Amino acid sequence: MRNEARNDRSPLSAAGSRRSGSDCHASRRLPLQRGGIKGWDPRPLTARRVAWPVLLLMALANAPLWAAAVSQQELARALASRPDRNHGQQLFLICAGCHGASGNGSVDGRIPVIAGQHFSVLVAQLVDFRNARRLDVRMQAVSQSHRLPSAQDIADVASYVSELPAPPAQSIGDGKQLVFAADVYGRLCASCHGVTAAGDGAREVPRLAGQNYNYLLQQLSDAASGRRPRMSADHLALLQRFMPADLGAVADYLSRLMP
Ligand code: HEC
Ligand code: HEC
Repeated sequence: MRNEARNDRSPLSAAGSRRSGSDCHASRRLPLQRGGIKGWDPRPLTARRVAWPVLLLMALANAPLWAAAVSQQELARALASRPDRNHGQQLFLICAGCHGASGNGSVDGRIPVIAGQHFSVLVAQLVDFRNARRLDVRMQAVSQSHRLPSAQDIADVASYVSELPAPPAQSIGDGKQLVFAADVYGRLCASCHGVTAAGDGAREVPRLAGQNYNYLLQQLSDAASGRRPRMSADHLALLQRFMPADLGAVADYLSRLMP
């Protein structure tokens, strides 16, 4: 009889079925809801408790973004400025102590050739060092604002350096894997760095031809182990496919190309 009555009621009014449903849910949910209310009420409190650490983490996480924005601005300003070559020549005295009077790096090849590198590449690297987006204590110190106060100074020195004649490398490898290296370079690297490794100033791709072997090897292993933060993830992944000995072979091949 009871069952019948229920069955009768439920199709007649949705309210009936809802009520029976809600009754049943209410009886099951009530304790849960009460507990829920108690449990969920402190939400804002919890939010407040975590707010400061979260804000701090967000600020820290945004620091690279901030550096990226500043360096983007500096890069744009330096690239848009009209370089003063004479002032660049004066500023180059700072550089010559390490990179040599003709900009061809150190004799042991650990300091790079910068002479004749593309203007845009020089500017981009200086801006990156300055904003800790490329890491090296010496270059970070040199590129700080007290040595090169403005984007204009960066453009001036980069312009002077880019016009210096590019010399052959001071350090080369053992020459044992050149055929292999030429093949790998042609397949994986030439699309950006160029068939003759001359780079591409318009895309800020560095010239690699005639760069010092020791320096190239250092950069390739630094980059492969993630110590060049600005290098793109794709570039990183590409270099991580190499065995250390193969990176040496490519560095050797590049150091021997005429700039
Ligand atoms: C105290 C020594 C020192 C001085 C002074 C110095 N450099 Fe450097 N520079 C280095 C070293 C070391 C590296 C390699 C850094 C690395 O391993 O990433 C380097 C790297 C560079 C690079 C990156 C090259 C590339 O192919 O990516 C550029 C560009 C550069 N220097 C320009 C300059 C300019 C311009 C000046 C002068 C304003 C200067 N440097 C002064 C030591 C120096
Ligand atoms: C998609 C384009 C692209 C490809 C492919 C590419 N590169 Fe690069 N490479 C770049 C750019 C852009 C930079 C400058 C990155 C930076 O500023 O950190 C660079 C930087 C470098 C540097 C550092 C040069 C210096 O003086 O600081 C080396 C070494 C290098 N690449 C080697 C290679 C080798 C070896 C390959 C092939 C296995 C390769 N690249 C493939 C675009 C490319």
